[in-house]
Parts: sequence; C-alpha cells; structure tokens
Amino acid sequence: MRVLVTGAAGRLGSELVKYFGSEHSIIGTFRTTQRDLPISCGTAVKVDLVDESAVLDMIAETRPDLVVHCAAASSVDRCQLDSEFARLNNVVTTQNLCQAISHVGRGRFFYISTDYVFDGATKAPEETEPLQPMNTYGESKRDAELATRKAGIEFAILRVCALYTAGAHPKGDPITAIAETIKRREVYKAATDLFSNPTEVSDVARAIAALAKLPELPESLHIAAPEYMTRHEFAIKVAERLNLDRNLIEAVTCADLNLPAPRPLKAGLGSARFEALMGYSLKSFDSVPGISR
Ligand SMILES: NC(=O)c1ccc[n+]([C@@H]2O[C@H](COP(=O)([O-])OP(=O)(O)OC[C@H]3O[C@@H](n4cnc5c(N)ncnc54)[C@H](OP(=O)(O)O)[C@@H]3O)[C@@H](O)[C@H]2O)c1
Repeated sequence: MRVLVTGAAGRLGSELVKYFGSEHSIIGTFRTTQRDLPISCGTAVKVDLVDESAVLDMIAETRPDLVVHCAAASSVDRCQLDSEFARLNNVVTTQNLCQAISHVGRGRFFYISTDYVFDGATKAPEETEPLQPMNTYGESKRDAELATRKAGIEFAILRVCALYTAGAHPKGDPITAIAETIKRREVYKAATDLFSNPTEVSDVARAIAALAKLPELPESLHIAAPEYMTRHEFAIKVAERLNLDRNLIEAVTCADLNLPAPRPLKAGLGSARFEALMGYSLKSFDSVPGISR
C-alpha cells in the first residue's frame, strides 16, 4: 500500500511514518522542518497544503492508496487569536486534499480530528455526541470534518486527544513542558477542572496503522486511552514517574490560567467503539514504556 502522511514532521505524523513505514511505501509531507522527518520516511515532499494546485499535483503524481491527514494548526490558543490561520491550515488543507483525492478517483482518507469538536459537557463523549465546539480550533476541526463527509470519497474521521510523547519531540508536548518547568525550579500550574484521556502518541499511530488494514471502518472513531484524569493528576503522575519535585506542581482552575481559548472542561473521548472493533484498549500512562526527558 502507498500511504501519504501529511504533517510527517509533527508529533503524531512522525510516529505514523514509523509504523506505516515498516510495512508500506511512505510519502511524508512537511512544510518547514525536513530535518524533523523520521528516517523511515520513504519519500519526503515539501508542500504547503493550503496551496490547492500543489496539493492536486502531489496527489496526482503520488496516487496514494491512503492519505492520513495529520497536518494541522494544532495550537488551540494560536487558533483563537487568528481564526483565518485556523481556517486555512485546518479547513482549507482538508478541502484541498479531499478534492484532490476525488479528482484522481482513488484513495482512502483518514482525517485526524479532536475531542475539542465537543463542548465538554459530557464526560468522555462517544462518537454519537453532537458536535458543539466551544473555541475557534474546535470549530475549524469540525468544519474540516464536515468537508471530509461532503467530499464523496472513502473516509474515516479519527478523533484523538491529549497526546503526549514517551520521548522528547522537537515540537514539545505536555510531559516536556512539565519536566522543563520543574527542572528550572519553577512552579507548574495544572488545572484540577480540565479532564481528558492522556494518550501516548506512538500507541495512537500503531492503532491507526492497524485500522488501515480493515476493509471497512465506521465514519468516525475515537482513539484514546481509557484512563480519565485532570491535568493536575497527569502532572503529578509525570513528576512521580520522572522523579521530579511534585511540590512544584500547583493546583489551579482553568479560569486561573487565563488562556486565550476557552477549553471544554470534560474533554477527552470515550473509545468503546474502538475497543469493540479492535479487541484491545490503548495503554494507560503507567504501562507506557520509556517515558523520559
Ligand atoms: N497534540 C494533541 O494533543 C492533539 C489533540 C487532539 C487532536 N490533535 C490532532 O492530531 C493531529 C496531529 O497533531 P500533532 O500534535 O501531531 O500536530 P503537530 O505536532 O503540531 O504537527 C502538525 C504538522 O502540520 C504541519 N502543517 C500545518 N499546517 C500545514 C500546511 N498548511 N501545510 C503543510 N503542513 C502543515 C506542521 O508543519 P510546520 O511545523 O512546518 O508548520 C506540523 O509539522 C492534528 O490534526 C491535531 O489537530 C492533536
């Protein structure tokens, strides 16, 4: 199978390249940072996915069997401050890829989405929950989901949440933020009212590579570890695992953090559908090997 992964230098994209790369021919796209592409990335293509004709040409030339669209404006607060940035990088990139796949008339499309398409009123929502984003990032991801559904191509919307990496990644992640703050002997403020399912990124990539082998998938699927906790509980777990001073973790509320974008408080995802389909659940924090900083 020929698999094209967008955002291949990103946190999830780079892991996907590794998992798919062990069995399939890989095309990884990047926009700025080729040096961050994993070594297993077969062919690297530099492309700004906002550029409609460049996307059309790339898909026509590579004719992938599967496109996994990971590239995104993933900073929730930056999206809140610049809605056009969110629209271009989340919605337009998706429209361009869907249109190009439709144009060549072949290839499956996996759209990587988020728990932030929900409003955080229901604990760990399942796939049947109505889409009700409460910030600009969530709205742009919802719009990209809708564009995917309308495109008339074979697709699956795969929602993930609260990703962390076992080892450090150049783009950073919550564990790096916690560890670096505490190592500087500064206070790390962690919300006691923000819930999610922290999920290790390579575990998600392994699951997506396995899903790609199934002949049929539901239109939407949640891929998340079942463990549900607050950001404060997660920070404490990280400090304990890395032997860092947990006294430097301060319990605050989400409102205390004064973040530009409002957050769904009960974020996260229910992954019962995934577990029924695949027959296993993703790893809890304590069972993820090799967590280091
Ligand atoms: N991280 C999380 O906790 C989380 C939670 C829920 C959902 N998600 C979703 O999961 C997916 C992967 O997230 P991630 O954290 O791995 O993202 P990431 O590390 O920020 O990587 C995203 C990549 O997308 C690329 N990109 C953005 N706009 C582009 C464009 N117009 N053209 C080409 N490339 C572009 C970026 O390239 P440059 O660096 O060169 O700009 C970057 O390498 C995203 O769809 C995100 O919305 C993530």
